[in-house]
Formats: sequence, C-alpha cells, structure tokens
Amino acid sequence: MVDVLRSGWWGLGPKTAEFESRFAEAVGAGHCVGTNSASSALLLSLATLNLAGRHPAEREVITPALTFVSTNHAILQAGGIPVFADVDPDTLTIDPAEVERLITPRTAAVMAVDYGGHPAELDRIAALAHKFGATLVEDAAHSCGASYRGRSVGSIADLTCFSFHAVKNLAMGEGGAITLAGAELAERLRKMSRLGLSRSTWERTGVDSYSWDYDIEEIGLKAHLSDLPAAIGLVQLRRLGETNGRRRAIAGLYSAAFAGLDWLTLPAELDHVRSAWHLYAIRVDERNRFIEHMAGRGVATSVHYKPTHLYRPYVPYARPLPVTEEAWPRLVTLPLFPGLTDSEIDQVISAVRSFAVTSRC
Ligand SMILES: Cc1ncc(COP(=O)(O)O)c(C=O)c1O
Repeated sequence: MVDVLRSGWWGLGPKTAEFESRFAEAVGAGHCVGTNSASSALLLSLATLNLAGRHPAEREVITPALTFVSTNHAILQAGGIPVFADVDPDTLTIDPAEVERLITPRTAAVMAVDYGGHPAELDRIAALAHKFGATLVEDAAHSCGASYRGRSVGSIADLTCFSFHAVKNLAMGEGGAITLAGAELAERLRKMSRLGLSRSTWERTGVDSYSWDYDIEEIGLKAHLSDLPAAIGLVQLRRLGETNGRRRAIAGLYSAAFAGLDWLTLPAELDHVRSAWHLYAIRVDERNRFIEHMAGRGVATSVHYKPTHLYRPYVPYARPLPVTEEAWPRLVTLPLFPGLTDSEIDQVISAVRSFAVTSRC
C-alpha cells in the first residue's frame, strides 16, 4: 500500500493487473477481472447475457432465495426474471433436482451460491445449464479458497464471482473479481467494468505522454478494482491458505464440541468438497431465545439469511420453497474468523452448550 501511495497512482493500474494475474493463477482460471465488489461482479456477469434485450420469455435466471440480496438484485438490475429454486437440506446450496425441474429453453442463466463457503453441486448444475444453453454464474462470495472434486472454485463455472469485502475470506476492504476461461469475454468484462472505455487511463498514460482518446462500443458500469485495495489483496492472497486453515480448525473444534447435541443441526461438508468455512451456520429451534442466550454470554451471532423472496421486490416471483422455508427460521451463525482466540472459541462453545442445559431445566 505504501508503494502504491508513493507511486502517485491510486486508481486502476499496475497493482490491479498484478492482483488479477496472481488470483487467476491461484484459482486455476484463464482470466480474472477485478471489480469493486461481488455485487458488481454479479451484475457485470449477467449484463454480458443481454437479458434486457431478449424476448421477455427468454430472461429467466434460476437462483436460490437463501442468499444475500446481491445475488438476486443482479438479476433484476440486468433485466432478468428470477426463478427461485429450493436448496439441498444438508448443504443449503441450490438443489440440482430443483434446477432440473425448473430449467427450460427460457432459462438464460443459473446462479449457484456457495452458501457459507461450501461449493454448490457444480458439475451437475453446469451439465444441466449447458444442456439448455444457459450460463452457470457461481456466486463465490463465501468460497474463496474452496475446492470441488479437487478443482479450485473459480475454475469451474462459466463465470465465478468473488467478494473481497472486509469480512470475507480474502479481505481487502471492498473488492471483488470475476474469473473465467475465455480471453475475449474477459476483455469485454474488463471494458464493461470501466464504463465501456476501450482503454483505461493507465493504458493511455505513458512516462511523458497522455492520450485522451478512447472508444465506447458498449455501455458499462463504474465497477473496476483499483490499486490500493489490490495491494492489500496481493498480501491477503499469500496468507489465504493460512487464514482459511484457521477457519477450518475453528469449524472443526465447534463441530467436535457440538457433535453430541441433538437439538442443533451442524453445518455439513460433503466428502468431495473442501469448504472455505466462511460461515459456521447451525440450525436450532427457538432461534430468538438462542440468540439472546448467546448475547447474554457475550457472544454475538447473526442470521444468514432471510430468504430473498420474502422481501417486497421479490414477492411477485415467490414460489413454494419448503426446504428454504423450514431452514431459515432456525439458522444462526456463530463467530468464525481467523483472529478468534482460543479462549473466545471456548467461550462460544460453552455458551452454546449451556443453552441445552438451560432449555432442559
Ligand atoms: C452470497 C453473497 N453474494 C454477494 C455478496 C456481495 O458481496 P460484496 O459486498 O462484495 O458486494 C455477498 C456479501 O456479503 C454475499 O454474501
């Protein structure tokens, strides 16, 4: 960061390019386009499908409702029609059987969200999407560093969208990225991320010269990554294995401590995936009482998520989602971040365990 500050070039420039190439290499993707958030990465990805320009009957995008609103806002912002799919009861990622039921030639894209860091069933969903000529967009905001059947998240879906927001596994304050295989689409996304400008200011600036001229072929967004967060990202990328390892160790301690508690459901990790353990989300009855109980013992909890179809803009698209509706009122997220100390972990564990005792008295 000091190098960037001293260089005088704080915007989109060489550190962004360096981060993009290191990140693409780290996840085994052909290309990486840095963005200022996952929200804009998702919107840019869907914008490449020109949903708004399609016949209204060909704008459907299949998506889970159990996600942060960014996944679904991108669909409406890009002119698509959300088609809500239910989730798998164990992993809470989009259920491939639901995708199979809902997919038709009207489907333009399928969004797979790696809930809590656990990759969705990517091979089955990709096969279904491709059979119908639809694009698989993976919302990997939670799953930086995860893998699926031995392959890194970022090298599997047609377009994978990452978040580097302050609380994410690779944190740079605000930032995001799209990874993909093809050079041509990467170049298009890169232009779209800088309002459609054919050449960035950095590319137009020489040592002793500046060329003001650029072309616009397509309207884009102001959504590119820039050099200050990219400089943080380069350091964070080197530490990702270590910080994700600490998340995994904490999740392991929680799961071991809670294994005998029959009143809560533990988060799953299927054998063929390696989760990035962004969240540790358990399921309990009497959630509100549990949250108050934890707060009373100095432990902050959260809920991920109230499903999107329950928010007003999405009500017109709501359809029955029995697994989502059964799971979400029971979901509670426990603290999980690399800086959690051993004594804080013990504090969380004993607070959870004492709830059982209280509830049985
Ligand atoms: C599943 C999911 N998708 C997308 C986003 C958006 O990420 P960003 O804050 O980088 O826009 C988030 C952020 O929390 C998220 O949890």
